[in-house]
Amino acid sequence: MKYDCKDIELAPGGKERIEWADSNMPVLRLIRDRFEKEKPLEGMRISACLHVTTETANLMRTLKAGGAEVVLCASNPLSTQDDVAASLIHDYEISVFAVHGEDNDTYYNHINSALDTKPHITMDDGADLVSTLHKDRRELLDDIIGGTEETTTGVIRLRSMEANEVLAYPIIAVNDALTKHLFDNRYGTGQSTIDGIIRATNVLLAGTSFVVFGYGWCGKGVAMRARGMGAKVSVIEVDPVRALEAVMDGFNVVPSMEAAEFGDIFVTLTGDISVIRIEHFNKMKNGAIVANSGHFNVEIDIPDLKKTATDKKRIRKDLDQYTMPSGRKINILAEGRLINLAAAEGHPASVMDMSFANQSLSAEYLAKVEKKLENRVYPVPKDIDRGIAKLKLDALECHIDELTEKQKKYLSSWEFGT
Ligand code: ADE
Repeated sequence: MKYDCKDIELAPGGKERIEWADSNMPVLRLIRDRFEKEKPLEGMRISACLHVTTETANLMRTLKAGGAEVVLCASNPLSTQDDVAASLIHDYEISVFAVHGEDNDTYYNHINSALDTKPHITMDDGADLVSTLHKDRRELLDDIIGGTEETTTGVIRLRSMEANEVLAYPIIAVNDALTKHLFDNRYGTGQSTIDGIIRATNVLLAGTSFVVFGYGWCGKGVAMRARGMGAKVSVIEVDPVRALEAVMDGFNVVPSMEAAEFGDIFVTLTGDISVIRIEHFNKMKNGAIVANSGHFNVEIDIPDLKKTATDKKRIRKDLDQYTMPSGRKINILAEGRLINLAAAEGHPASVMDMSFANQSLSAEYLAKVEKKLENRVYPVPKDIDRGIAKLKLDALECHIDELTEKQKKYLSSWEFGT
């Protein structure tokens, strides 16, 4: 088996942590047990480009239990947990190409190694695997029946490929399932972003001015949790409806140039480029802390900050302090890479349980409908999405009511009014 990891000796620690995460992934475990018996992915080769975490390890185990031949590479150079990569290779015989801190060339070499297995299904988080395949490895397209995409940024890229008529195979947008983005993006990003900021800085959030850029599901989660920690939260938006939502959720909505002057901590979660620019840095207070929790490291203009700063010092593991010509210090966390995975461990297992249940069942769906889909971005089928919500409720021992016959009839009628 081919692989590239930091140190295979790290496997025992990785295994313990993978099992710990598994104890909080009951829905994925149920799917794994069924896959073990039914083997719905028999004969399928799956190339996955995901954050190499304990939760992803349990997804890989599930796909393998379903009969698939699986290979995993990292979807971000700083999110790989090296002990997990080692354990997947050593204990679960799953091929992994990922090393924490790998450079750009190694990152793409690893993606290409994952593609070398000639996948039938791609599983992506951010669409780097799919875009590499479409740009450089087109000879592989013939074997592919479909793919899945985990995150908002990836789905946006893939929709753009569809609109430009270059998407060469069908993709299931896992991100858009209700049991994914309502939970993972909101509660997962909310908690893990705060976790990353605290691990990187150990600052007290209570009483700080905390500025959230973007009020999508991820921004909503971070704003909500920062408020819960006692911060005074401001929101930056460009979309009028989202801005209004933030206002009515009780947040201070202001233009970014204004917030630059009073913020203590800034977090970007917009999915867009150059969100915090040099004009913002020029206004920031001494000691401002700046982090990104969006998928790519393009939201903060760090190259421009580097050009302007007179000095740069690594103060803590995930904290670089830049000195501005005026002497003010600006603290950049995790080099502007997604803070929740670079400085913390990503979303907790119990929320990834639903995201990765969607991934597993979407892969099964692709294997079943083989070749019948067009080259478009598709939603996760509704029955899969609702089924996952039911299984999660069962696992939480939470029981809900059912409509009575009279209520069902009422909801399907139009004659009844006042
Ligand atoms: N994305 C966010 N958190 C994650 C995690 N724990 N594992 C894999 N992908 C993630």
